[in-house]
Amino acid sequence: MSLHGKTIVVTGTSSGIGAEVARLARFHGAKVIGMDRNDPGLTLDGFVKADLGIVAAIDAAVAQLPAHVDALCNIAGVPGTADGDLVARVNYLGLRHLTEKVLARIPRGGSIVNVASILGAEWPLRLDLHKELAAARSFEAGAAWLRDHPVPHATCYQYFKEALIVWNATRSQEWFMGKGVRMNCVAPGPVFTPILGDFVTMLGQERVQADAHRMLRPGFADEIAPVIAWLCSDAARWVSGSNIPVDGGLASTYL
Ligand SMILES: NC(=O)c1ccc[n+]([C@@H]2O[C@H](COP(=O)([O-])OP(=O)(O)OC[C@H]3O[C@@H](n4cnc5c(N)ncnc54)[C@H](O)[C@@H]3O)[C@@H](O)[C@H]2O)c1
Repeated sequence: MSLHGKTIVVTGTSSGIGAEVARLARFHGAKVIGMDRNDPGLTLDGFVKADLGIVAAIDAAVAQLPAHVDALCNIAGVPGTADGDLVARVNYLGLRHLTEKVLARIPRGGSIVNVASILGAEWPLRLDLHKELAAARSFEAGAAWLRDHPVPHATCYQYFKEALIVWNATRSQEWFMGKGVRMNCVAPGPVFTPILGDFVTMLGQERVQADAHRMLRPGFADEIAPVIAWLCSDAARWVSGSNIPVDGGLASTYL
């Protein structure tokens, strides 16, 4: 796998999985431009500080990007312990808006990678709703749809990761066929990053204990990053529209 000469925009670069993807992509020869609401803690080739839950901030951030971007990694996210509106804006509506804007700068052969979650695995239970939301194309249209279809706070993280997986599937083939740009999701299981504790609070001890014996241990960010980096590379040139679990086998145990 080589990322030599590629310019990759990585959101969420200031912590956890995003920081590890940035480090690994640079190691493999990419120029990495980070985007985060917090300052980064590692060397990057460029950095745009932005709140990726706000349309005007996203537009201003995109205006600072180079005209040519080979790949976009949508990694920034907040846990379900955050305000429900924030979860919707950062994990789904803002991610979509950023992607649609950056797409204009991605040439044929480019790649988009969205970080979903094992907690989005139950998307088939709500497929019709997620398709309706995906069809509400703009940030504003999506927000309006959500006002008419409120999401309970307790499960909003799961809901918007499910919605992301469905949006990824419904949008990707049009872009692959029409523009030659691939789009995929990566769905991590529990990962040791600063928000792992929030997931324990969110899910409750019972669910966490039920999952614990199904896997060897939670993952590390450097076990998720290689799959994301590979999806950005030309080696993955025929992989599009997929959702790849990187979870130590945890999802397979739910069958
Ligand atoms: N850690 C896990 O167990 C786990 C499991 C599955 C999926 N995920 C997903 O992985 C992604 C990365 O999470 P992580 O574990 O590295 O968490 P993290 O908290 O370490 O990193 C998240 C990054 O996103 C940034 N961010 C949050 N809100 C933002 C906003 N409004 N604007 C700009 N930047 C913002 C934060 O500043 C932070 O740098 C998230 O999408 C998360 O949902 C994490």
